[in-house]
Amino acid sequence: MNKIGIFYGTEQGMTEMMAQVMYRVLGDDIASEPINVNRASVAKLLSYKALILGMPSYGVGEIPGRTTGSEEGNWEEFLFRLDEADLSGKRIALFGLGNQQKYYDRFAGSLIHLYHYVAGYGAEVVGAWSTAGYHFTHSNSVVDGKFVGLVLDHHNQPEMTKSRILDWLDQIKPALLEKLN
Ligand SMILES: Cc1cc2nc3c(=O)[nH]c(=O)nc-3n(C[C@H](O)[C@H](O)[C@H](O)COP(=O)(O)O)c2cc1C
Repeated sequence: MNKIGIFYGTEQGMTEMMAQVMYRVLGDDIASEPINVNRASVAKLLSYKALILGMPSYGVGEIPGRTTGSEEGNWEEFLFRLDEADLSGKRIALFGLGNQQKYYDRFAGSLIHLYHYVAGYGAEVVGAWSTAGYHFTHSNSVVDGKFVGLVLDHHNQPEMTKSRILDWLDQIKPALLEKLN
């Protein structure tokens, strides 16, 4: 597919809302309408070379899905279906949602699993994001001093959400567009 694919999992709708904001900012000439992974086929995801994937944090930093009490499918079920697919040649940017005030010792901890899955299946992960401006004691999703993707806390820092999304999209857009040519 000659556009950026946007896929997300969500329980309460916030990750979907952020995916929709990203889609609107990028525009439908370069991005496809966001798809919930509980309705997505593996073939659909594999049809994109450039992807943005979004995941909220649940459980004790596990992959959201039935294990963390999900009613519908989430990333846990999708990653099971993905089943070691070959993601080499794909460039992927990740974003994760969390609540740094309530879960300060495992802030946005689920995102690291998505990072390990897609990197392990051969994708190039772009879009690491500074931890500056967040207040937490621990996050599994920090590698080499940075979050493995954009982290949003719309519960406690709603006023920063839009500018974080805009800055991050500016950062990753050239790398993702390169894959569309
Ligand atoms: C039961 C429960 C567990 C959660 N666990 C974490 C967590 O471990 N770390 C974190 O940063 N946020 C955690 N959160 C916060 C969610 O990630 C946050 O509310 C997010 O915005 C939800 O996204 P969604 O609306 O797309 O489902 C948890 C929320 C709930 C309700």
